[in-house]
Amino acid sequence: MVSLPNVSPTRTLLQVLREDLGLTGTKEGCNEGDCGACTVVIGEPEGRGLRYRAINSCIRLAHSVHGLAVWTVEDLTADPLIDRQGAALHPAQQALVDCHGSQCGFCTPGFVMSLFGMYQNRVLTGQAITRPDAQADLSGNLCRCTGYRPILDAACRMPALPAARVNERAVRRLLDQIPATRPSPHYIAPESLTALLRARREHPQAQVVAGCTDVGLWINKGHQRFAQVLDVTRAAELRRIERYPHHLAIGAGVRLSDAFAALVKDRPALAPFAERFAGLPVRQSGTLAGNVANGSPIGDSMPLLIALGASVVLMRWAGRGARGHIEHRELPLEDFYIGYRKNRLAPDEIVAWVKVPKARPAYSVQRSRGEWVRAYKVSKRFDDDISAVCLAVKVWIERGRVVQARVGAGGVAATPARAWKTEAALEGRPWNAETVRAAMQALSDEFTPISDMRASAGYRRAVLANLLWRGWLESQAAPTDALRLEVGSAWGALRTEAQS
Ligand SMILES: Cc1cc2nc3c(=O)[nH]c(=O)nc-3n(C[C@H](O)[C@H](O)[C@H](O)COP(=O)(O)OP(=O)(O)OC[C@H]3O[C@@H](n4cnc5c(N)ncnc54)[C@H](O)[C@@H]3O)c2cc1C
Ligand code: FES
Ligand code: FES
Repeated sequence: MVSLPNVSPTRTLLQVLREDLGLTGTKEGCNEGDCGACTVVIGEPEGRGLRYRAINSCIRLAHSVHGLAVWTVEDLTADPLIDRQGAALHPAQQALVDCHGSQCGFCTPGFVMSLFGMYQNRVLTGQAITRPDAQADLSGNLCRCTGYRPILDAACRMPALPAARVNERAVRRLLDQIPATRPSPHYIAPESLTALLRARREHPQAQVVAGCTDVGLWINKGHQRFAQVLDVTRAAELRRIERYPHHLAIGAGVRLSDAFAALVKDRPALAPFAERFAGLPVRQSGTLAGNVANGSPIGDSMPLLIALGASVVLMRWAGRGARGHIEHRELPLEDFYIGYRKNRLAPDEIVAWVKVPKARPAYSVQRSRGEWVRAYKVSKRFDDDISAVCLAVKVWIERGRVVQARVGAGGVAATPARAWKTEAALEGRPWNAETVRAAMQALSDEFTPISDMRASAGYRRAVLANLLWRGWLESQAAPTDALRLEVGSAWGALRTEAQS
């Protein structure tokens, strides 16, 4: 158990590990959440056991792990609470050795820790490890030397090695001894919604943080310092996903990985999109509400949430001291944004919940009826990259006609946007190629994106429209080759127009 005095509220977990505790096994590569060299695993009490998450220590604030277990690469051979059955190395390490998964070794501690997280969450729960699983769990780790094949081999080899187990009861006993009271008045992390809202009112100058996957970059790269930080993720009420007959309510403390899991459970077609959001360690720290509050025009969840008809519930403490009460208001997500990274949040408010309408029966070609939903992200790199363009579409079809359409777009305006004109071009019309072609034109005319390092304006408009075509093609039981080819010709036409 470690206790440190006078840790500033913006000191990162990586700084504390390396500089204050001398645990230099954890490396600093990019210092912005991209490379995974700094990966550690945190353990949070859940039920009678622990919930394990690999996270980037470089952008996680040190105070946020108060009361949690943290494993670094040193612990895999030094922690007496991990029983390796006499083996010299943990299976996450031994597998990398066996498969020749390390060369210069700089990325290796980060890979080992992602593998350790995978070991705890998959191997010890009896799941088989497939290559796609390995790719998904290692999506936040970059290696410049070895190549990924031997590292993925190592992930798949772990179950074949003698088991190593964390003594969770002993860890829980240790965690129970840590006082709930935080050592620093400069890092406020209230444990209830009421306390959080009161703190927001009493400390309007405090920097609100959730997973810190955006704010961490302002600290490390923008050199911003905050005298006081208010962490929203410890309020018990906001750590839940609540299921109602018509909607899901996702609390502000819910991590992106859990939020996306709930959305995908409701609408399985969203699974490929969910895995395109950052890499696993970022999704295991960052929150959905943080993505929404940050409101980047190239953020990924907002186009999807707009298409799904989501709203945000904003809360504040009204009145003085304990005699006050909670006030809330609810806004459709598209109305939350008023300009580039500007939203309607008042200084004493927080985003408390993101409300997402539940799925209706999925579209079937045979019945010509149902909900059709798709979301696409186009970025320069497939994994762990920011969108150039993002499109999400939800249509409700009755007797082959589009009764209701909702379209969300990212990367094409100063804010995440709802494509009203495109929706109008779809609604009331048959769900066929002609309608979709007209809607593609509407979509490419609807926004005036900018050209930047991620894509040119013409590329963005052309790709956005073609993603709609792709969505429609995917809704057809067996699209003909002629229809598939139309993607090429539609793209060509728009590109010519963009160049002229
Ligand atoms: C390597 C890397 C890859 C990334 N990839 C993607 C990606 O693919 N797609 C994408 O969209 N984003 C991506 N991001 C950005 C980031 O992960 C997301 O925006 C994330 O959802 C932010 O959530 P957070 O909880 O970490 O927010 P924080 O960083 O804690 O906060 C972000 C902002 O929201 C405010 N805030 C947070 N919670 C609340 C609340 N409840 N009420 C009011 N204000 C609040 C904070 O004050 C701050 O202004 C990436 C980031 C990194 C580092
Ligand atoms: S140092 Fe690169 S992700 Fe942390
Ligand atoms: S072994 Fe050199 S960066 Fe991965």
